[in-house]
Amino acid sequence: MKTYNIAIDGPAGAGKSTIARLAAKELGFVYVDTGAMYRALALFFLRKGISPEDISGIRAALPEAEVTLHYEGGEQVVLLNGENVNGLIRTEEVGKMASVTSPVPAVREKLRELQWKLAREADVIMDGRDIGTEVLPDADLKIYLTADVSIRAERRYRELVERGETCDRDELEREIAERDRQDMSRAVSPLKRADDAVLLDGSLLTIEQTRDEILRLFRERREKTGDARQA
Ligand code: DC
Repeated sequence: MKTYNIAIDGPAGAGKSTIARLAAKELGFVYVDTGAMYRALALFFLRKGISPEDISGIRAALPEAEVTLHYEGGEQVVLLNGENVNGLIRTEEVGKMASVTSPVPAVREKLRELQWKLAREADVIMDGRDIGTEVLPDADLKIYLTADVSIRAERRYRELVERGETCDRDELEREIAERDRQDMSRAVSPLKRADDAVLLDGSLLTIEQTRDEILRLFRERREKTGDARQA
């Protein structure tokens, strides 16, 4: 049976995961956070003491790392070799490691298999950097969600403070800008807007407005093309 796929790409801190999660709930779709998969592998490399420059070490260690997802009460749980690592992958250290290890082709191939499988098996809203361009090029709807870097830094700062982490706001903004630069300029699967992706600027919209716009766009497309599942 055909499954519906919605792809959301955009830079770090644009609100992709919050908005995708809310939209998935409304539509009864599965939310797939692909950044969490890259973060789980980054945690694995950090624990093994592999340096980000050590590409052959990364390749050699990959077969020992099994990333799987399961869902508890609608929430995505990332398992690294069977261990729930949800609470360990949201740090800046893991984020930075994910940013430098995610361009390694063997890392992407491994996670892409898992992403394809999930999209084949269920209606999904999948967010990441290369979902509309490479993972799900035939997605029913593609969104490129962005926001001004200072707004993204402010949001991330508040999130970290709420979790009791201390950090410098300006330093965070510099780090986010650097992460954008890395994600956009890398040779392998760079972050870019797919030609057919709808551009949404979250700096100008609330979370609810952005969610509603995505729902509206998806329903409009489904109506236009006819419910493909009836076809
Ligand atoms: O969205 P995030 O911050 O959790 O992603 C962590 C890192 O993983 C980010 O620097 C880019 C990378 N990533 C990627 O290369 N491809 C994806 N589809 C998702 C994330």
